[in-house]
Amino acid sequence: MSETTLKPIKEGKVREIYDNGDSLIMVATDRISCFDVILKNTIRKKGTVLTQMSRFWFDLTSDILPNHMISTDVNDMPEFFHQERFDGNSMMCRKLNMLPVECIVRGYITGSGWASYQKDGTVCGIRLPEGLKESDKLPEPIYTPSTKAEIGDHDENISYEQSIEHLEKCFPGKGEEYASKLRDYTIALYKKCADYALEKGIIIADTKFEFGLDENGNIVLGDEMLTPDSSRFWPADGYEPGHSQPSFDKQFARDWLKANPDNDWTLPDEIVEKTIEKYLQAYEMLTGKKL
Ligand SMILES: Nc1ncnc2c1ncn2[C@@H]1O[C@H](COP(=O)(O)OP(=O)(O)O)[C@@H](O)[C@H]1O
Ligand SMILES: [Mg+2]
Repeated sequence: MSETTLKPIKEGKVREIYDNGDSLIMVATDRISCFDVILKNTIRKKGTVLTQMSRFWFDLTSDILPNHMISTDVNDMPEFFHQERFDGNSMMCRKLNMLPVECIVRGYITGSGWASYQKDGTVCGIRLPEGLKESDKLPEPIYTPSTKAEIGDHDENISYEQSIEHLEKCFPGKGEEYASKLRDYTIALYKKCADYALEKGIIIADTKFEFGLDENGNIVLGDEMLTPDSSRFWPADGYEPGHSQPSFDKQFARDWLKANPDNDWTLPDEIVEKTIEKYLQAYEMLTGKKL
């Protein structure tokens, strides 16, 4: 054990964030949330799978824009992190001044987007062609930004024009430039990665990116990237519009919880094992490597 014990500056449902001077250390734990509740079980290796997946996507897309990743090797981090529980699931990142917009992109129609389309034919104010079925692929991916809500509140969808105003308020004179860059980067990242994933048998139905500014004012990709926690992953095998699709990673857990309403948010070992297998499978399909 190291002498100094560090405390996270932020403890989210699934991730812990440590301040390391100029950098941050983001630790993905093995916790899992279903229906917005943290289950009592942990999913062994889930944190490592998610961190290594982000790392893979950051490497794949560094030609589009720079990202915040510095290292996933604990030997590059302070001694406190030289513990088994941080090995593989920690990422040292450049500290950014985060832009206050959640950059959501949707390539398929599902979830709240599907509900909204059924009501009035639009998703976040964007009119879509008639006759789409649930889970259909959209003719082109759409950018549907939202503002980050205070803890406990729901994020609020905003139009592209509102994202300009929102950014302009925080960064006078820069609203239009930042808003258009965020939109263009978001679409470019999604297209490249969704095409790649589809070849490997995984549909990325939608996802969310977060960007920030570095010390020179350049836009840098931050946060986690294209993990099953920030995205909807569906198996391409068996994909069929007209109904909802199984989630790649949480399907066994969700199905079991629904079938066992008196579950107390605890999964049986067998479901935990199956869920672990799904995370490992997603990682292997996407990267072509064993963890
Ligand atoms: N490179 C970075 N520099 C500073 N903050 C970052 C960076 N990358 C991500 N963040 C921020 O760190 C936080 C991660 O917290 P998270 O556990 O995802 O909870 P939540 O999204 O609910 O705030 C987010 O507020 C995110 O915007
Ligand atoms: Mg987050």
